[in-house]
Amino acid sequence: MQTISSISLAGGQGKTTVVLFLSRWLATLGHTVLVIDADPQSSLTTFLGFQVEPDSPTLLEVLKRQVDTADGVYETRHKNLFLIPSDDALDAVQDYLAGSGTGALALQRRLKPVEKLFDYCIVDAPPQRSQICLTVMGASDGMVIPVEASVKGLQSLIRTLELVDELKQEDSEFGGQILGVIPFRDRWVGRQRTKESQSNIKTMEQITSEWFGQSLVLPSIRESEKFKQAINQGKTLHEMGQSDLAFAIEVLSQKINALEENR
Ligand SMILES: Nc1ncnc2c1ncn2[C@@H]1O[C@H](COP(=O)(O)OP(=O)(O)OP(=O)(O)O)[C@@H](O)[C@H]1O
Ligand SMILES: [Mg+2]
Repeated sequence: MQTISSISLAGGQGKTTVVLFLSRWLATLGHTVLVIDADPQSSLTTFLGFQVEPDSPTLLEVLKRQVDTADGVYETRHKNLFLIPSDDALDAVQDYLAGSGTGALALQRRLKPVEKLFDYCIVDAPPQRSQICLTVMGASDGMVIPVEASVKGLQSLIRTLELVDELKQEDSEFGGQILGVIPFRDRWVGRQRTKESQSNIKTMEQITSEWFGQSLVLPSIRESEKFKQAINQGKTLHEMGQSDLAFAIEVLSQKINALEENR
């Protein structure tokens, strides 16, 4: 099982959108995919149309070792796609992780018992620098950073890269690689990218080049109502007849494949 997370330290950057469309694309290709909602806002659980029943285990109980990991995994309405859901009670795990001594490795350890059951595990991270975010990063083989093509997005990119660096320095076992940065809500008018998007994406290229010696910017996700419509209707972009808009997700899935081959 290959574990990939979507991280960025600000709200509204496209983390959940990337997790949703990536996981559904991989499942459509025939892979068995486990998605994990690691954000107490639980948007991913909602986007997947999943309702957490009272007293049924979620990521909270899995992380706290109150249930076996497999007991927190549910089928979704989509073929090949399984979910460890969350609700706002997940916030309570912050103190547990901080006090457990294994914080950053907690999720990785809890995933071991199910790693043979799935080809991919795709994790949606919360927007804050928190214990949950650290344990998600600690479990990741690869990380994708969605970044809104805005000034707020650029600031969140820098903070996210700083956090990844910190984790690398603190924990020699941390081997998660950054797969790339996906510009989110890239605005075009007709056949032209707006000046604002153009300049912000250029800055993303400069920032990643300075950090890694090469630009890690991947194809962008365009600003489009079609994404929201697809989310609301529980459809993929291909099912909406919008294959062009799925290009960023397809390229990301190829990157994930390459990561596997290089291991
Ligand atoms: N291509 C798009 N163009 C415009 N809006 C979009 C697009 N894709 C998704 N959205 C909307 O943008 C909003 C933010 O996206 P998303 O929820 O993925 O961000 P996030 O980083 O997960 O946010 P949070 O940190 O709050 O969890 C959502 O309401 C979503 O419906
Ligand atoms: Mg989200």
